[in-house]
Amino acid sequence: MTRMILVLGATGMLGEPASRKLIEMGNHVRMLVRNVDKARKIFGHVAEIVGGSALSRDNIRSAMAGCDAVHVGFSIKQPPRYKQGLLKKGS
Ligand SMILES: NC(=O)c1ccc[n+]([C@@H]2O[C@H](COP(=O)([O-])OP(=O)(O)OC[C@H]3O[C@@H](n4cnc5c(N)ncnc54)[C@H](OP(=O)(O)O)[C@@H]3O)[C@@H](O)[C@H]2O)c1
Repeated sequence: MTRMILVLGATGMLGEPASRKLIEMGNHVRMLVRNVDKARKIFGHVAEIVGGSALSRDNIRSAMAGCDAVHVGFSIKQPPRYKQGLLKKGS
């Protein structure tokens, strides 16, 4: 059975490969992104791309409709540690 998975942070360093893997596994991936053009350039039409913010309750509620699971690939608190110079990229 195809599962519908919402991905937050799909255009990010971790979210992009996670999204690709979820798609490759046969899931229907819906991504809530701030920049639809950027996401479309990365994923083309293999994913359902919805514009909005993961900080918006309404956007999240709409994006989650019909989903079986959510993959969260972003943080509301602070930039990833590698962006703060605390870690090497990918470590
Ligand atoms: N990278 C690592 O090595 C590493 C290691 C351990 C833990 N983590 C944690 O994993 C998480 C993701 O890390 P990352 O390196 O993949 O981060 P990243 O490359 O900065 O990606 C963050 C993603 O979140 C999206 N985003 C940010 N605010 C958003 C919002 N309000 N609504 C919708 N999307 C939003 C960004 O979209 P835009 O494209 O619009 O910016 C981007 O797709 C973070 O919590 C980080 O602390 C990362």
